[in-house]
Amino acid sequence: RLVSDWSSDVCSSDLISPRSWNSEPLGSAGLAPYDRGLMATRPRDLGTPIDRNLALELVRVTEGAAMAAARHMGRNQKETADQAAVDSMRRSLGFVDMDGVVVIGEGEKDEAPMLYIGEHVGNGSPPAVDVAVDPIDGTRLVARGIPGGIATVALAERGSMFHTHLHYMEKLIVGPAAAKVIDITAPVAQNLKRIARAEDRRVEDLTVVVLDRDRHETLLEEIRSAGARVKLIMDGDVAAGLMAAMEHRTGIDVLMGIGGAPEAVLAACGIKCIGGGMQARIWVGEGERGVQEREGKHAGDVLELDDLVSGDNVFFAATGITSGELLEGVRFLGEDRCHTQSLVMRSYSGTARYIDAEHNLAKLRPRRDPVELASKGEARPA
Ligand code: FBP
Repeated sequence: RLVSDWSSDVCSSDLISPRSWNSEPLGSAGLAPYDRGLMATRPRDLGTPIDRNLALELVRVTEGAAMAAARHMGRNQKETADQAAVDSMRRSLGFVDMDGVVVIGEGEKDEAPMLYIGEHVGNGSPPAVDVAVDPIDGTRLVARGIPGGIATVALAERGSMFHTHLHYMEKLIVGPAAAKVIDITAPVAQNLKRIARAEDRRVEDLTVVVLDRDRHETLLEEIRSAGARVKLIMDGDVAAGLMAAMEHRTGIDVLMGIGGAPEAVLAACGIKCIGGGMQARIWVGEGERGVQEREGKHAGDVLELDDLVSGDNVFFAATGITSGELLEGVRFLGEDRCHTQSLVMRSYSGTARYIDAEHNLAKLRPRRDPVELASKGEARPA
């Protein structure tokens, strides 16, 4: 059985049709979706409190995506794993009671047929929200069966998430105690000293997580000569960023270095919920000067947490795909059952819930969408 078959069942309990399937992107009149002009005119709705915890609905979305992707663990097929997660996520987002627009997604419409930037998701009812998705953060981790791959989604009031077409950002993330002392423009050693002092520890006690990339050679030298410990990761800096913000339970104190810009916004959504400090700076890669100029972004500008995601109605959910230090991965059990572990958070209350779920795949399968079944030439099970 194809993974996408049953993973989509996980979220198809409502008998409504996701509006997103046939919807058009926001862009019009010659504007590319979410170009600077359009961003400037996006209505902002930061004042109305969202009275229900949408993250509890989002967790079903990330669970489904994680289960879909997990079937492909270790098969060395990044695209297939990603597609399974995207299919599941897109379908199940359609059932969430929200009027969502993808701000952080799989790319522009012409390069990503699903979950593209500007795509409407949700069933169209209020609240109006920005949506950030990463069906797999750590595609390579999943493809190789290495710890740390997660499926993640965040929501925030419409107009509140930072958007750029630039690929990378420099990031500095810490836990709540050091949130007010970081300065991404200051030397690494100085930041580490301040963080250690704020946490009443020595620099030697700090663990800094960094993506294992050649571009971080100098950064690593600076961290090591300051005396801090280093944890290198192959991929997945959303989970790593959250771990740095949750230093009391993860043993990771700081995230430093350059990673994806979309992942920076996703991490910011999570950090907004659990507390912690984050600063980022646009990092302009080769060939990106044109984009930078069109967007009017300045490489040196410091983006604070509130610049990455403003407002206090932020929702975040993540489910482990491959077992990592933040979340357990998907386990397929006997009797057609499957176990997932997720982290679900809301900024308004600051509540973070770990949710262990056992899914009965045999029961979920028959709930698949009949239209999709028919298009595959299959009959709906009795
Ligand atoms: P994907 O799963 O989308 O490939 O992203 C993995 C990741 O490691 C992110 O967590 C990180 O922000 C980004 O890639 C870093 O980009 P690069 O691999 O180009 O250095």
